Amino acid sequence: MGRDEGENQPRWAEVAYEAIAPVYDAFTAHHDYEAWLSSLLEVLEKQGISGRRLLDVGCGTGKSFIPMLEKGWAVTACDVSPSMVEIAREKVGERAAVAVADMRELPAFGEFDVVWCIDDAVNYLLSVDEMERALAGMRRNLGAEGLLLFDLNTLLAYRTFFAEEAVIEREGVRMTWKGMASPEAEPGAIAEASFEAEPLDPAAGPAIPAERHRELHFPEAEVLAALERAGLECLDVYGQHQDGIPRQPLDEAQHFKAIYVSRAK
Ligand SMILES: C[S@@+](CC[C@H](N)C(=O)[O-])C[C@H]1O[C@@H](n2cnc3c(N)ncnc32)[C@H](O)[C@@H]1O
Repeated sequence: MGRDEGENQPRWAEVAYEAIAPVYDAFTAHHDYEAWLSSLLEVLEKQGISGRRLLDVGCGTGKSFIPMLEKGWAVTACDVSPSMVEIAREKVGERAAVAVADMRELPAFGEFDVVWCIDDAVNYLLSVDEMERALAGMRRNLGAEGLLLFDLNTLLAYRTFFAEEAVIEREGVRMTWKGMASPEAEPGAIAEASFEAEPLDPAAGPAIPAERHRELHFPEAEVLAALERAGLECLDVYGQHQDGIPRQPLDEAQHFKAIYVSRAK
């Protein structure tokens, strides 16, 4: 377990991402964000995108919004981890407004044509109540025709990636992901994994001690009910394999991610 012990501490995600921040980009270097974000935009375009103002919630080091800057979008972004935000700011300077904010208490940043929260950031909320608060906050940031898109890890993700060990050596660092979930994880399960890293050359810098990533699986029915209570109308649900291409219908046992598209009721 990491620095903040205890089952009920509300800062699991912040603690985990403060630790992983220096190597997050190396750990996720194999993800093709250009292609993935283009696929997500296609999904949104089916519902009609009304402008080019994006709010990226849980933006991490900026991978989920930097390609949008290149496409000419005006971007505001936020994340609960100050270290992730700092890295994002270093990359984009004045080109985007990047704030430290917890999506469970999301400030009113403005009126956006698209609000998104992607790469399983919502799974770090450990109750339906927390998810509902986050969704309501995202809704408050939608412009009149604005669309909200977020993804969630599926049972397949928890039964595989979160149940397996992976060691990646990249950019001079050995990174170890130890999934602790059951290969038979059930709907609504909490899935945990520990992440640690050490430089291949011990003189290159300090190691990152093991820190716990803790996620909650949200079944589709719970998500739809939470959207409704947050004042959102669900427009589309997709599933996605690791190729990043959204497909219908969502199949929790076949797809790695579920993608939800909604707008204010
Ligand atoms: C897997 S990373 C994805 C980051 C980025 N969206 C990307 O695609 O690279 C999940 C992010 O969610 C953030 N996060 C988790 N819980 C959060 C919360 N309550 N409020 C805001 N951000 C949160 C984490 O700090 C982390 O940066």
